[in-house]
Amino acid sequence: MGYADINSIFIFYFLCIHLLGGLMFSQNVSSPGYRIREAMMSDLDRVIEINLRSLPEHYPRYFWEQHLIEWGRIFLVAEVGGEVVGYMMNRIEEDEGFFKGDFVRRGHVVSIAVLEGYRRRGIGRALMIEGMSRMKNLYNAQEVVLEVRVSNEPAINLYRSLGFKVVRILKGYYLDGEDAYLMAAPL
Ligand SMILES: CC(C)(COP(=O)(O)OP(=O)(O)OC[C@H]1O[C@@H](n2cnc3c(N)ncnc32)[C@H](O)[C@@H]1OP(=O)(O)O)[C@@H](O)C(=O)NCCC(=O)NCCS
Repeated sequence: MGYADINSIFIFYFLCIHLLGGLMFSQNVSSPGYRIREAMMSDLDRVIEINLRSLPEHYPRYFWEQHLIEWGRIFLVAEVGGEVVGYMMNRIEEDEGFFKGDFVRRGHVVSIAVLEGYRRRGIGRALMIEGMSRMKNLYNAQEVVLEVRVSNEPAINLYRSLGFKVVRILKGYYLDGEDAYLMAAPL
């Protein structure tokens, strides 16, 4: 087989994987009452507003934009009646693994929140499940990690129910001095 043939096979294989990934993940995930979809630049004002109303950890606008530009396929929003009520912002990094080897590609949940009036309807869980599935299938991530306040019982319950374990305690991680659990799960 000549170089040109091998090259064509490689390009064909690449296109198949790319198209298949696009088909599998271009659709929105919907359930009665809410819809999960990829975020757009026009969603950012609302996402930032939800963040300000839901969490003490805030970021400059360029930080949100950077994540949307770089990891847009794992930056998700949840809509109810056409209005964005929740988001999940993620990134991909290469770092130590806790389950699948010393050095792995892992997804990092940077921020997730659902507006207060829309909680306990399964939206947070749906965002997590879709985000983790995309980390694995679109970015080939082997693990997922996140930091959470040790007092954040709702979030810790959610993460545990999805297979996360506490892998480290980060002393004084937050600006107010509270510790964080570093939690991780295999994908
Ligand atoms: C954490 C958060 C995203 C969960 O969103 P949600 O849409 O309410 O979550 P779900 O309805 O999908 O709940 C999933 C599971 O989380 C746990 N959970 C959610 N809220 C809870 C609460 N108030 N108390 C105890 N457990 C709770 C439960 O295990 C729940 O499963 P169940 O309803 O079958 O018991 C939401 O509470 C939130 O936005 N909190 C403020 C922001 C925040 O803390 N983000 C996490 C930062 S690390």
